[in-house]
Amino acid sequence: MTPDIITAQYDGRALEAIEQRNGHKAAVVWLTGLSGAGKTTIADEVKLRLFEQGVHSFALDGDQLRSGLNKDLGFTAADRHENIRRAAAVAGLFYQSGAVVLCSFISPFATDREEVKKQFPEGRFLEIYVKCSLEECARRDPKQLYKKALNQSIPNFTGINSPYEVPEKPNMVINTEHCTETEAAEMVLTLLQVEGIIT
Ligand code: PPS
Ligand code: MG
Repeated sequence: MTPDIITAQYDGRALEAIEQRNGHKAAVVWLTGLSGAGKTTIADEVKLRLFEQGVHSFALDGDQLRSGLNKDLGFTAADRHENIRRAAAVAGLFYQSGAVVLCSFISPFATDREEVKKQFPEGRFLEIYVKCSLEECARRDPKQLYKKALNQSIPNFTGINSPYEVPEKPNMVINTEHCTETEAAEMVLTLLQVEGIIT
């Protein structure tokens, strides 16, 4: 650690010093959308592309957090709210480390997403709506969850018996019914460039 970075830790310039060293800015990319819309797939592809470019990134995913940190939470509105609150707190820690944090959570409630956005400086929180019709998500059904939900065996399933509030002003909409995984990842990388996060 250079003396500069040590000094910076004590006067609030730590992130700035890290970003200078990294050659890119820190940011939170928040992918929201229905189960099966393609959030995780896009995040994984972007993660790979950023790694190849030497950009520090970290992916946080609903299924992943729910298998550990958020194991105690279910899918009621209150539990989803707490799930997103914790996810945002973790995203904030990685953000402070200088990473481009790729967050894929259904995050169905607009107020919860707004709360997350408020925690980050202007231009450092990018909301992406991963758009896909309920019919197509149910057709893909990679985890056979829609099948179960439609048989009434999953309570509070997003889009079936639990609401999804479509983002009103996302930074980007990716319609996964009309683009490939590669094209979707390219769109995210372009957004990061346009916003001045990466070069
Ligand atoms: S939320 O709404 O943001 O708190 O959900 P999230 O943490 O992203 O978790 C979504 C993943 O949980 C699985 N799963 C369900 N999703 C929605 N509703 C219900 N009832 C449900 N039960 C289990 C599912 O694998 C989701 O992952 P994705 O990647 O979205 O398909
Ligand atoms: Mg997923």
